[in-house]
Amino acid sequence: MGSAITGWGEALPERVVTNDDFAARLDTSDEWIVARTGIRERRMGGTTSELAIEAGRAALKSAGVDGSEVDLLVLATTTPDQTIPATSAVVHDALGCKGGAFDLNAACAGFVYALVTADSLLRAGHRRALVIGSETLSKVTDQDDRSTAVLFGDGAAAIVLESGMPDELIVAYDLGVDGAATPLLYANHGGYIHMEGREVFRRAVRCELDSITNVLTKAGIGPQDVALFVPHQANVRIIEAVNERVGLTMEQTAIVLDRTGNTSAASIPLALAEAADAGRVAEGDLVLLSGFGAGMTWASAIIRWGQEGLAR
Ligand code: UT7
Repeated sequence: MGSAITGWGEALPERVVTNDDFAARLDTSDEWIVARTGIRERRMGGTTSELAIEAGRAALKSAGVDGSEVDLLVLATTTPDQTIPATSAVVHDALGCKGGAFDLNAACAGFVYALVTADSLLRAGHRRALVIGSETLSKVTDQDDRSTAVLFGDGAAAIVLESGMPDELIVAYDLGVDGAATPLLYANHGGYIHMEGREVFRRAVRCELDSITNVLTKAGIGPQDVALFVPHQANVRIIEAVNERVGLTMEQTAIVLDRTGNTSAASIPLALAEAADAGRVAEGDLVLLSGFGAGMTWASAIIRWGQEGLAR
């Protein structure tokens, strides 16, 4: 039995931080940030659990489901509120969920990892999963370091995943990690993000290209068959470079990074939720999700959108 995405929702902190806000106190400019990244503003504030609860609540509402009807919660995050317990425990309690809950850290590929994990557990017998990506990256970013401060933001988005579909949700997926690349992008306990930006950029393009090619081949489809491409929102130049190599267009692509910056595990569900709200996906459409990040991790999935035939 397959599953379907039956609801989605998002949460963004109220505080907007523009490029000019950084330019007022750091040696940077709106022109540089827009030209090099595509980012115009980002949101900052809240805790990872607060944002996850708000996004989770919105997703449950959109699915018409009560928290008590959820029997699995997977929270993708690199910025948990504390070391122990998992942030998902706090979210599970606040939303009144049943069953198990756990955090999953696969950096910016985390949401796709979480989706694949939740879908597998639904096939193993769970009924309904809440899958959330939530981050407060502003807390692990040195706000005085222009090379990282301008890139990252806070936010969350969630989906409800329900079993009961005649067909599988995930048509093909690919998960990977290259731990040898750890020194390129990391944050130690209590420390800030360190990133070798240029090298991460180079590898991001290469590993997304390989991962997307892998899932397109597994699914037996070409780029023209993808109704919507939802990439990790780190840098519009990375997205453009990947699109050009794969044969995807910017018209097929969901972009929110101009308003959110890089929100790591929250970026793909934020872009997906916005595209779904805008009516950019229809029953039966093939949606490509692809993320990469610290590790380096990467993950891609092709999913079939829609809930026609769902047995509730
Ligand atoms: O989600 C996790 C994955 N992370 C990413 O995907 C990030 C990948 N990397 C990138 O997006 C880009 O490498 C950056 C946006 C981080 C940087 O862009 P770049 O075109 O690779 O620039 P660069 O690092 O080669 O730096 C070019 C210059 C440097 O000055 P010099 O050495 O040429 O004099 C930097 O110091 O730009 C300088 N620079 C800045 N200038 C103005 C770096 N940050 C800034 C800034 N404002 N905010």
